[in-house]
Amino acid sequence: MVICICNNVNSDTIKHAVTSGANSVDHVRDMTGAAGCCGKCQFKVNRIIQEHEPQETQETACLGQL
Ligand code: FES
Repeated sequence: MVICICNNVNSDTIKHAVTSGANSVDHVRDMTGAAGCCGKCQFKVNRIIQEHEPQETQETACLGQL
């Protein structure tokens, strides 16, 4: 599904950027071009980030506290 009409960026491209490390709209914009024009797609981009951002594992969380 096309998320950013201005730059013809689809949801799969945004999901791939998020799973590759993009964790903000600015970062997704840099990687894909989404939200780089009118900005109307920003809330959709943000929702994909929230839904697909890699979660910190329990083990990683514990190691971070040492
Ligand atoms: S729809 Fe994404 S910048 Fe316009």
